[in-house]
Amino acid sequence: MEKRGSFASRFGVIAAMAGSAVGVGNIWKFPYMVGDNGGSAFIITYLLISLLITAPVLIAEMSLGRMGGQNVLGTFRTLAPKQKAWQGVGWLGLITAFVILSFYSVIAGWSLAFIKDSVIGSFAGKDVAQITADFNGFIASGWQPVAWAIFFLVLTCLIAGSGLQKGIERSSKLLMPLLAVLLIVLVVRSFFLSGFGESVNFLVKPDFSKITPNVMVAALGQSFFSLSVGMGTMLTYGSYVSKKESIVDVVTNVLIADVIIALLAGFAIFPAVFTFDINPTSGPDLVFLTLPSLFAQISGGQIMSILFFVLLFFAAITSAFSLLEVVVAYVTEELKLKRRAAVLVSFVGLAILATLCAMSQMPESALRLGSRNLFDTFDLVSSNVMLPLGGLLIVLFWAWKLPKKRVEEEITNNGTCSTKIFGVLYFLLRYIVPVALVIMFISLNS
Ligand code: PFF
Repeated sequence: MEKRGSFASRFGVIAAMAGSAVGVGNIWKFPYMVGDNGGSAFIITYLLISLLITAPVLIAEMSLGRMGGQNVLGTFRTLAPKQKAWQGVGWLGLITAFVILSFYSVIAGWSLAFIKDSVIGSFAGKDVAQITADFNGFIASGWQPVAWAIFFLVLTCLIAGSGLQKGIERSSKLLMPLLAVLLIVLVVRSFFLSGFGESVNFLVKPDFSKITPNVMVAALGQSFFSLSVGMGTMLTYGSYVSKKESIVDVVTNVLIADVIIALLAGFAIFPAVFTFDINPTSGPDLVFLTLPSLFAQISGGQIMSILFFVLLFFAAITSAFSLLEVVVAYVTEELKLKRRAAVLVSFVGLAILATLCAMSQMPESALRLGSRNLFDTFDLVSSNVMLPLGGLLIVLFWAWKLPKKRVEEEITNNGTCSTKIFGVLYFLLRYIVPVALVIMFISLNS
């Protein structure tokens, strides 16, 4: 069997984990959810939930990976050797990684197509209606979104296939700072648009009447998705982290990066939206249909558009590495294949599923489950069922199945760090988080 990899440096760990967290969820989903759910009221709810619920789950998940030192399945087998049922959590994680990565590659593929369109200037002079018509044609062609999604998967597999340190860690260390720079350039440009002031009001001044139970549930689902929690990604990455690293410190850095990037994405996008008096509640269309038409009308817009979609691509590929790693770690360790062979096998499976997802969006496609096409079903089921369920099981395992002493030693590195915060963390994970997750699970699915 191949020697097990590990991350080489602290910055590498943070870049890879923040790379997983910062993704399409931050740049595409977060701004439209803010728009749909009442602006800053949603943001405040989101911040509180991320701090009190999601970050503790992330800490638990990462520490399980470091304790087990293996892929998701192997970790549960090692930590609960006599209770095979817990391996079900590992299987759930593997399936979720497959499901998310297949629709994720389709969205990432769009970002590549939009980079091409921005570079050749095909948005110039077009309004939302024309861009929507072009986009609908692109989706209806079937082969175009499929080709872009597969191209994205090829890039992801080529980089990840060259190794944990050489591929994933090295490229995350490069792409994450670049992503931050691109985003800051975009925010600075947006600062000079007339809608900047209004977007600051929208993003900063809270209207607490907007915080309803539904908004809280939406914020929790988004927070789980955004921090890549509940399916074994962070567990798998955690298994590559040195025993000397403070898990709480790493997670704090990842949380801060994730939140700041999501907020900056809002400040990059909303000024253009308000400058042209567009309703900020245009939902998923916001980034792919509304934004290009707005960029097309401002000076320097073509460059902004290129930078924006390059940024979206960087965000997507570093998240895709982490999803792929869940599968690759499983195939190398359980099925005993070499890394490159494992990546190839995973690629074939993912390419098939991503193709089905992209084709399911064609009009009249038969690839449906009930009233939804496969793409929407995968998106919905992963965020509303698989992640909260996986998160709940991970937390129950950590806080109720494992002895307190065991988890305390892992979080505090045998009493040398994070000793004060452990008590709070344990209380949250044992009582508050499971209850919150059960409530969320029931309300999301009823
Ligand atoms: N966190 C990523 C995003 O915000 O786009 C999505 C994601 C990546 C979800 C990895 C889950 C995961 F395991």
